[in-house]
Amino acid sequence: MAEGSTPVLALEAVTLTLPSAAGPVNILRGVDLAVAPGERLAVIGPSGSGKSSLIAVGAGLEQPTSGAVRLFGQDLARLDEDGRARLRRGRAALVFQAFHLLPDMTAEENVATPLEIAGAREALTTARQWLGRVGLSGRLTHYPHQLSGGEQQRVALARALAARPALLFADEPTGNLDSRTAAIVADLMFDLVAEAGAALVMVTHDPVLAERADRLVRMADGQIETRTIEA
Ligand SMILES: Nc1ncnc2c1ncn2[C@@H]1O[C@H](COP(=O)(O)OP(=O)(O)OP(=O)(O)O)[C@@H](O)[C@H]1O
Ligand SMILES: [Mg+2]
Repeated sequence: MAEGSTPVLALEAVTLTLPSAAGPVNILRGVDLAVAPGERLAVIGPSGSGKSSLIAVGAGLEQPTSGAVRLFGQDLARLDEDGRARLRRGRAALVFQAFHLLPDMTAEENVATPLEIAGAREALTTARQWLGRVGLSGRLTHYPHQLSGGEQQRVALARALAARPALLFADEPTGNLDSRTAAIVADLMFDLVAEAGAALVMVTHDPVLAERADRLVRMADGQIETRTIEA
């Protein structure tokens, strides 16, 4: 990491233990991780190893049991839920495997609504421009159920990136797509992230997608081991 550049995301000795019927589950077990501005990180590892939990804790959606999480240099433990939402707004965005579009809103409303909430003017115009960039100019007023999986994920990408975030979390963004559609969505995601200069924290089971990142982190049993991809 370049000297003097504050990581967009830093986890220090993070643990996450949640209760279950069978007793407490140690989901994250001492995770240290720093993501530099503009860095693209892939997180791989077997099912149940804690990848989605790492994203939930890093994005401030879940509170760690111990350890510290700093998002854009701010200690999340010092913020309440509103404060964490304010910190994320416009600076950190999330894309999930299951798209998570709002079912009662059209494609353009799904993209425009967060912009409106963030106080942007001309939110609908901006939304339409972004949907054009992901190749969906002809689908502006379609509802999610009227869109294919790949189209829904492109709407989700437009929604995530329209706010010009400095950090995009993506949890298996191509996991529900066939390989051809996955490649199209992955190309778009990398192009848009590069153009925005955003950092990317991407969980994936796809080795081809993982190799496109600058750095690869493998999780196993709630812990992390790192190896840097040779350029
Ligand atoms: N709310 C919860 N309460 C108890 N245990 C949980 C909870 N959420 C997740 N877990 C457990 O934590 C472990 C890690 O889950 P997580 O979803 O982070 O795995 P993952 O690496 O993303 O797996 P996958 O590749 O299948 O998505 C799993 O064993 C899971 O069963
Ligand atoms: Mg997961």
